[in-house]
Amino acid sequence: MSTFEYPYSRGRRLRSSEFVRNMVAENHLSPNDFIAPLFVMEGEGKKEEIPSMPDYYRFTVDLLLKEVEEIQSLGIPSVLLFAKVPDDKKDNEGTEALNPEGLMQQSVRAIKKEFPDLVVMTDVAMDPYSSYGHDGIVRDGKIINDESAELLAKMAVSHAEAGADFVAPSDMMDGRILLMREALEEEGFFNTGIMAYSAKYASSYYGPFRDALDSAPGFGDKKTYQMNPANVIEAVKEAITDQNEGADIAMVKPGLPYLDVVRAVKEAVQIPVSVYNVSGEYAMIKSASANGWLNEEEAMMEALIGFKRAGADLIATYFAKDAARLL
Ligand code: PBG
Repeated sequence: MSTFEYPYSRGRRLRSSEFVRNMVAENHLSPNDFIAPLFVMEGEGKKEEIPSMPDYYRFTVDLLLKEVEEIQSLGIPSVLLFAKVPDDKKDNEGTEALNPEGLMQQSVRAIKKEFPDLVVMTDVAMDPYSSYGHDGIVRDGKIINDESAELLAKMAVSHAEAGADFVAPSDMMDGRILLMREALEEEGFFNTGIMAYSAKYASSYYGPFRDALDSAPGFGDKKTYQMNPANVIEAVKEAITDQNEGADIAMVKPGLPYLDVVRAVKEAVQIPVSVYNVSGEYAMIKSASANGWLNEEEAMMEALIGFKRAGADLIATYFAKDAARLL
């Protein structure tokens, strides 16, 4: 009989107490793993709960700073900013996105002024600025690629000028990482990082986020640019392409239904991999716990360690503060 068989081998020995379990844990979570997404809106002195995202808020810039202070004090090193743009500032070309005094640019400046060490990441995408709610410019009912990618590159430069440490393009236009990297270099922002949403799927799990920013597509869907949930080889190709075009971090999004994609991408690229634990995943855990059907803290921590096990180096999650508090 081999010593690797029962009764000489007993798996339960290594599960017999909390100390033993901690000692042999293969993966660990730390607040350093988290990126806290933040929604900012115009105005002053206001915060609004997002109905489909219980306990999650949009903030005006002044209150956003208080939230950021709390995030930093919990040991979370980075935030990812999303701006809610009023309807009268939306158009097909996303003009407002390039406004140096725009909400995103103002927020970045305000945060970097008070919290210079915090890593500020910005969402680079047209949909909050687009009258069509699409991530690109629309012509004849189609989302056109190259002009959109050029606009996104300008947007990235505008965020870098405001002080963003990383720009995070979430659009899935072809070639945008290369254009963005070239534009940043040309303008002297050679230290601005790019966290590319490399494998972003056309997902129904973005529903609550589109409520938060009022950014649902006005016609059609996003399937001509976001990926088909059936594919994983394509995700690897997208991530390698982004790495080659100059991305510093490759992201997979959504998270929970795509853990195999996280693993595949992690094994294929030589840059850190992040995963986005998206709004619909947050809403599922929140709503089931509110009904007493799940234990919120346990379900949250299990999901988060699952991302680490799958190979994620960083996790963008609406649970960042709650999880950091528990750690
Ligand atoms: C759009 C964008 C989306 C999310 C982040 N950036 C939604 C979409 O593609 O429609 C989703 C994030 C979430 O659901 O938490 N540029």
